[in-house]
Parts: sequence; C-alpha cells; structure tokens
Amino acid sequence: MSRILVVYFSRSGNTRRLAIEIAEACGADLEELVPAGSREGVRGYLRASLEALLGLSPTLQPLHHRLQDYETVIIGTPIWVWNIASPVRSFVRAHRAALQQVTLALFCTCGRSGRHKVIEDLHRLCGRAPVAALALTADEIASRAYDARMLRFLRDLKRRRTPSMVAPGAVPA
Ligand SMILES: Cc1cc2nc3c(=O)[nH]c(=O)nc-3n(C[C@H](O)[C@H](O)[C@H](O)COP(=O)(O)O)c2cc1C
Repeated sequence: MSRILVVYFSRSGNTRRLAIEIAEACGADLEELVPAGSREGVRGYLRASLEALLGLSPTLQPLHHRLQDYETVIIGTPIWVWNIASPVRSFVRAHRAALQQVTLALFCTCGRSGRHKVIEDLHRLCGRAPVAALALTADEIASRAYDARMLRFLRDLKRRRTPSMVAPGAVPA
C-alpha cells in the first residue's frame, strides 16, 4: 500500500488535475472529498462563497482511506473568496489529531489571488507546518507553466525537510 495520501476537493477540475499529477509523481493514493449538497452552478457558487466567507464546515461523505495507514498526507484546496474551500476545512477540522502524526504537504489552486494567505490559513488550521507547499493559478495549470515549481514541491516532499526549511518563495504572494 502506498504510504502517501493526496486529499483534495475540486469543483471545476483544476485541483483534481494537480492532485492526480502529484499522486502519479509520488505513487500516492487519492481521496476526493465529497461534501453534502451541490456546489454546482450559480447557486453552488453562492453557497461555496458563503461557506468559505463564514468558515463553515459542511458534512462530508465518509472517506475511502484511513489516515492512520499513511505516513504522509498532501492536502489540496481551491481558493474560495480568499479562503480555504469549505470541504477541505471540514476534512482538516475532523482529522486534526491524525494530521499531527503525519508528514504534511499543502497545495492550492486559484484564479489569481489569495495563494499566500490560504496556504498560511491551511497551515494554521492543520496546526503544523508543511514540509512542502505549492500554489498555482488556473492559467498556470492550463498552460502547464509550473514544471520547476512542481519539481521543487516534489523534491521538498521527498527530502521530508523540517518545517522551518520549506523553501522561501515556494508560494508566491
Ligand atoms: C466560490 C468561488 C470563489 C473563488 N474565489 C477566488 C478567490 O478569492 N481568488 C482566486 O484567485 N480565485 C478564486 N476562485 C477561483 C478558483 O480558486 C480557481 O478557479 C480554482 O482553480 C478552482 O479549483 P477547482 O477547479 O479545483 O474547483 C473562486 C472560485 C469559486 C468557485
């Protein structure tokens, strides 16, 4: 069994695409978070925005994987109104204790802004620093303009550096 688990939520595919690429690169298992109710369409967009702004944690469907089977967990979130996407907030809140026992890495995807804040928010919500972090815009993902940063993310993860040694500039402001 793989000892790395990539956990993510994706509404429109960007975070999923990155999650799959990361999982393939490091031989990880994938866990896509599925919240109760839809985040599709205009109503879903408004719901997602409200949940993110208010810091709400929707109910999630049960996970397919057990965190205690993994030594490394990589968490990926889209940015919703400069905040962590609510399903990812639910996951971290529910599994905060288990996340203290693993090596942690974080990634996020966005339209344009909020990357630095959201990685910081996720770091604080998890209660510990990641050994690697990656933040990409939808345009960068579409044009695959991130090879060097992906390599650095995977390298940092592989080296399992101590949190204070995460490469500065890994997450653009
Ligand atoms: C409700 C909502 C709010 C968003 N807010 C932001 C934002 O504050 N900043 C930003 O750069 N992108 C924002 N976006 C764009 C997404 O972060 C971006 O498209 C992301 O890559 C979507 O990931 P996904 O395709 O995995 O769902 C928002 C998207 C949604 C649906």
